[in-house]
Amino acid sequence: MTRARPGPGARAAARALTDTFRQHVAQTSADPLGIVVARARGSWIVDVHGRRYLDLLSGMGVSNLGHGNAAVRRACRAQLDRYLHVMVYGEFVLAAQVQLADQLTTLAGHPFEQAYFTNSGAEAIEGALKTARKHTKRAGLVAFDLGFHGDTLGALSLGGNPRYRDPFLPLLPHTTILPWCDAEALRGIDRRTAAVVIEPVQAEGGVRTADPAFLRLLRDRCTQVGALLIFDEVVTGLGRTGTLFAFEQSGIRPDLLVLAKALGGGLPLGAFLGSRTVLGTLARNPPLGHVTTFGGHPLSCAAAVAALEVLTSRRLVARAAARGRTFLAGLQQLQQAHPVIRAVRGVGLLLAIEFRSPRATRRFAAACLARGLILNWTLHRDTVVRLAPPLTISPAEIRHALDALDSALRSLRTST
Ligand SMILES: Cc1ncc(COP(=O)(O)O)c(C=O)c1O
Repeated sequence: MTRARPGPGARAAARALTDTFRQHVAQTSADPLGIVVARARGSWIVDVHGRRYLDLLSGMGVSNLGHGNAAVRRACRAQLDRYLHVMVYGEFVLAAQVQLADQLTTLAGHPFEQAYFTNSGAEAIEGALKTARKHTKRAGLVAFDLGFHGDTLGALSLGGNPRYRDPFLPLLPHTTILPWCDAEALRGIDRRTAAVVIEPVQAEGGVRTADPAFLRLLRDRCTQVGALLIFDEVVTGLGRTGTLFAFEQSGIRPDLLVLAKALGGGLPLGAFLGSRTVLGTLARNPPLGHVTTFGGHPLSCAAAVAALEVLTSRRLVARAAARGRTFLAGLQQLQQAHPVIRAVRGVGLLLAIEFRSPRATRRFAAACLARGLILNWTLHRDTVVRLAPPLTISPAEIRHALDALDSALRSLRTST
C-alpha cells in the first residue's frame, strides 16, 4: 500500500479537523472509525495522509457502482445546471423523477405501478407503514427478530433488538416481533395486522437469508388475512444479492417494496413502490396527508437514473452474483484455515464472516482496518462481520481483500 508523505502542516490540519469533528459533529458512538477522507474512487477511499483503504462496506451498501462513478457525476452536473429544488414532492413534473419512477416500476413489475420518493430508507419505511395502516384501516404491524428498518420512531418500533428499542420506549403500540423464519409463529399475523415488514436478507441481523419456503408461507398468510407484505430491500435492492431485487429469488412478490441506499447512486434517496390502488390512499382523505419537502430531489433522481443505466449496461447484477461466488469461495478457504471463524455465508455481494466471540470479532475488525480494509460488525449480531463491497469490485481487488483478511486472521493467533 503506497503512502504519500503529508507534511507536518497537513498532519496538524487533519488533527484539528478531527478535534472539531469530535467537538461539534454529534457523535453516534465513542469510537468512530475517524478516517479523514480526502477522496474516493472505485473501490478505494484515500485519507488525507495518502493512505488507501479498500472499501468492503460501500458506505454501508450505498456505493454499489464504486465511488465517484463518471456517469453519475455527469448526470449530477447536468441536473445542477438545469435546476435544483423547485417545489415540494408531488406538485411539479420533474423529468428525472418521472423517468426514475417509470424505470423502477417497469423493472420491478407487477404489482408495482407507482413509486413514492423519500430522502432515506427510514422515511420510506415510515411511508410504507402509514400507507398500509390507512389502506387496510388496521393498526397492527409485524416484523422479525433481529430485523433493522431504520431509527425513526416508527421504524425503530419494528427493530428486532430490544437493546436498541428499550432506551426509546414507549414506541408504537400494536407492534409484534416474530421469531425469524418460524412457520408456526405466522399465526401471530391476523385480521388486525395492517402490514408485515421483512428483510429478505437481514443485513444488521448478521446476514441471515430468509428461507424461500418460509417466505411463501408468509405471503400466503398475509393474503389470507388481508395484511400487506412489505419487503425492506433498502440493503438488498439494486443488485447486491445477485438479482436486481432479492424478492426475485424467493418466488413471491410483496405488496410494497422499500428501496434506499444504492438507489441514489451515492446521493440521498429512498422510495416505496406499490400498486396504484394501495399508494393511492396517500392522495385522499385528506389530500396532502403524507408529504415531504425534499423527497425525490431532482439531483438525487438524476443520479439514480444514471446509476440504473450503469447497473444494466455494465451487467453489474450478474457480476455481483459471480463475484459473490468467488469471494464466498475464498472466505470458505479462510474458514478452513482459521478455526476462530465459526461460519461464512451470504448471497451475491452481501457476505458475512461469523466469529466465535464478540472479542475476536472486534480484534479482527481492528486488524483489518490496520491493513487498509474497511469493514465492521453488524449492529444486531456482534459476532458477525459483514462484507458488502461495490458490485464493481475486480477479481484482483477480491484477491487483495482475501490476502489482507488472511493476514488479519493470522495476527489474531499471535497477538494476545
Ligand atoms: C434494512 C434497512 N432498512 C432501513 C434502513 C434505514 O435506512 P436509512 O439509514 O437510509 O434511514 C437501513 C439502514 O441501514 C437498513 O439497513
